[in-house]
Amino acid sequence: MPKKTFYITTPIYYPSGNPHIGHCYTSVACDSIARYRRMQGYDVMFLTGTDEHGLKIEQKAAEKGITPKEYVDEIVAVFKKLWKYMNVDYDRYIRTTDDYHIETVQKIFKELYDKGYIYKGEYSGKYCTPCESFWTDSQLDENGCCPECHRPVTFAKEEAYFFKMSPFADRIEKLLTETDYLQPKTRAVELVNNFIKPGLEDLCVSRTTFKWGIPVTFDDKHVVYVWIDALSNYISALGFLNETYNDYEKFWPADVHMVAKDIMRFHAIIWPAMLMALEQPLPKHLAVHGWITFAGKNGESQKMSKSLGNVVDPFMLGERYGVDAIRYHILREMALGADSAFSNEIMINRINSDLANGLGNLVSRTVAMADKYFGGTLPTERQAEEIDSDFINTVLNTVKDVETEMDGTRIKGALEAIFKAVDRANKYIDETQPWVLGKDESKKARLASVLYNLLDGIRIISTLLSPFMPETMPKVWEQTGASESDVEYDKLSTFGVLPENVTVHKGAILFPRIDVDKEIEELNAIIEKNMADAKSKLSESEKAESSDNSEKIELAPEITIDDFAKIEIRVAKIISAEKIKKSDKLLRLQLDDGMGGRQVVSGIAQYYTPEELVGKKIQIIANLKPVKLRGVESCGMICAADTPDGVKVVFVDDSIPVGSKVR
Ligand code: MSP
Repeated sequence: MPKKTFYITTPIYYPSGNPHIGHCYTSVACDSIARYRRMQGYDVMFLTGTDEHGLKIEQKAAEKGITPKEYVDEIVAVFKKLWKYMNVDYDRYIRTTDDYHIETVQKIFKELYDKGYIYKGEYSGKYCTPCESFWTDSQLDENGCCPECHRPVTFAKEEAYFFKMSPFADRIEKLLTETDYLQPKTRAVELVNNFIKPGLEDLCVSRTTFKWGIPVTFDDKHVVYVWIDALSNYISALGFLNETYNDYEKFWPADVHMVAKDIMRFHAIIWPAMLMALEQPLPKHLAVHGWITFAGKNGESQKMSKSLGNVVDPFMLGERYGVDAIRYHILREMALGADSAFSNEIMINRINSDLANGLGNLVSRTVAMADKYFGGTLPTERQAEEIDSDFINTVLNTVKDVETEMDGTRIKGALEAIFKAVDRANKYIDETQPWVLGKDESKKARLASVLYNLLDGIRIISTLLSPFMPETMPKVWEQTGASESDVEYDKLSTFGVLPENVTVHKGAILFPRIDVDKEIEELNAIIEKNMADAKSKLSESEKAESSDNSEKIELAPEITIDDFAKIEIRVAKIISAEKIKKSDKLLRLQLDDGMGGRQVVSGIAQYYTPEELVGKKIQIIANLKPVKLRGVESCGMICAADTPDGVKVVFVDDSIPVGSKVR
């Protein structure tokens, strides 16, 4: 009988800067799932790759004076090196600059055009250069910025091709609300309310303003816009509409596309619409995870990025703690759907508690006792006791629990289940007290039973852990005397698989305990230095923009001094500040403006606590027409700057009296 197949994909990454620990999450998660399915006997296709076209790449290459292809080649090499280092064992790597992918995308575009789903029109609207996305006014955030990256948008107009989305709205709504396509399903409501209910807008799918893209075959002024190009990778890599591969029938539809929340919309709405238009089956699951965030200077949580100077270098972390510890930490912290804050302290404590004290200790104590009391080889005489069954059953039940969690793509849940078994095993040692049994010659058979149960329990636990920590588990098997055939998946539902006279081999400590204080001090010093380096590079050359801050500064159209005179900027003092209910972005500020006071609502709640603001002097646009934000009246606007570290209020020297006019 042919094996069951399993097809899993990561997003294809933009090679616009070196990968960081945030990128590692999706890849390591997919790798672990792929390894788990391989272990279960599936014929697995694990696809990853790079999304190499677009304006951002074209601009960056031009800045460096090299071709876009030369530019991406360099970074793709770093991605591949990182995946090798992190033991991300993909089956296929797609680059959107590969000829076969280009062929597929061109054919898809033409087919959609021939079917009447793609038509030529003109686009005018708000455009976010870094995200390469047009936005409607209603989609912009409360500051009128890009709803995804919160950077300023510019007005843009161009001839473009559009993909008709409306014919698919009903089917997509059903897909999101009535099937388990989207994991976690809680996100479906947000998508339906924000994008489907207001009416699915047609998607702009070509560009004429840059060249670094796949040419539209029947209109060479245009290149295919990023999402049709990027999303098609999942099927071009299997040979859909190309001759390079021949696995489409075998692997499509995908079992799991895993993505982070910022690209959920494209995978939950646009990708199904494209497949519907192409009359192809839809993928089975879209698993959406949050971001690995990093506590910023003000304690606020921000998506990890280079411009924040907070890149946590996966190579550096791997060198310090071992790749498996890093894999374990990021997988264990991130719940599907939620963000996970990266902190050195949480990471080190987790490594110490779960890996050094929990798992490492379990293995080293068991092996050491087998060595001490039996010279490494267990005798075959046994004496079981009632107390054993609870431990044995807990371990056996873990196999089912992990299966349930993995079927729902809940890696954190799977790891929690396995570490419950680790704790249970350590408790079993405390309950049975082998060191007491070891002192009594008449208890040798009982001692052998206890140690055997522990070793066989470790066999099951470590096999379940092997997809997540592939480097360490073979070391555990070596130490605990488990052979390759003992750790087959099919044998996990049976207890007592190891040979009765199993022989252990003492080995190196699996996870050395880390001195938390010393380590944090060292890491903080490294981070400080990295941040200082990043900053000094920025000031050395203003052009040396970081990857996430690559938009060109574009001024609004020129105005005259008379135009400027229409704007009244005045100094005011913040008397009180409070969060507005049901909004995580808005603060209500009461101001002393030297004119009897006023109330202003400002979208800075993510960047400042009320306490940080009260008593400070600021600048306001004093003659701005009042508006209501979330039902609260706002009379004017406070001046703030968009910086790579988020929004910063422009504070004013305390010596300037309130009410003073700024010009
Ligand atoms: N090229 C598109 C994807 C096209 S898929 C058809 C893209 N690339 S990306 O490199 O910007 O991001 C790739 C993935 O990495 C996204 O899911 C993104 O959200 C994820 N991450 C980037 N930074 C991350 C964190 N800090 N934490 C978790 N995931 C992160 O989007």
